[in-house]
Amino acid sequence: MRLNLFLMAAFLASVAANIFVRPSATVTNFEFIPEMVRTAAYKAYSSHPDLQGGRTLQLPPEGSLPRGRKDLAYGPGEAEALRAGTTLVNPVSADDLDASTRGGEVFRIYCSPCHGAGGRGDGAVAMRGFPAPPPLNSEKALAMKDGQIFHLITFGQKNMPAYAAQIEAGDRWKAVLYVRTLQRRLQPPTETLAAAGAPSEVKP
Ligand code: HEC
Repeated sequence: MRLNLFLMAAFLASVAANIFVRPSATVTNFEFIPEMVRTAAYKAYSSHPDLQGGRTLQLPPEGSLPRGRKDLAYGPGEAEALRAGTTLVNPVSADDLDASTRGGEVFRIYCSPCHGAGGRGDGAVAMRGFPAPPPLNSEKALAMKDGQIFHLITFGQKNMPAYAAQIEAGDRWKAVLYVRTLQRRLQPPTETLAAAGAPSEVKP
């Protein structure tokens, strides 16, 4: 009985080896179910004889919105940034540790190349010739409301590009949270700030 099983296994193994093991590097192996290897469907980037423009991948219908997109009820520009500052409130709180951690990640990935890991405006890109951003504890940045910074990340400001396409809204708010953390770390003693005419207290 044992011997029979062994012989059977050996036979099956030799059949499998004949079918699946490539006899030589220059000879094509036996192709098992070729329809699965070469599908009849058109590939996304291949041309298509019947579709518009001869392309397989078609543009989405006009007015299509990406899934989960929420439009911001503000336009670009400084006036709109100020309006966002007076009306928008950060939905994530500084007490939310996960949100703070995520804010730090977002900042390190998207913002630190210019602003530097500590927010001093000394990121690698700025060191190599990109117009350096002011430190995040500049008078102006300290006076900015959360909603204004959210607007700034969404639409950009002068030399700073917009990040709405790269960072989803929830993460942008978390980055705002982290900007506040950095500002607290960077903030010089209050008397220095007061002498510079900056607000002495920063709302987290
Ligand atoms: C490509 C470089 C670059 C990146 C990346 C970048 N910034 Fe900026 N940022 C700038 C520049 C340059 C300015 C100054 C803009 C100006 O002249 O008004 C600025 C300004 C700011 C200011 C206002 C500072 C002030 O005093 O006016 C804040 C706050 C800020 N950025 C936050 C962020 C955050 C948060 C991110 C990541 C989501 C980010 N930035 C990513 C270049 C960048």
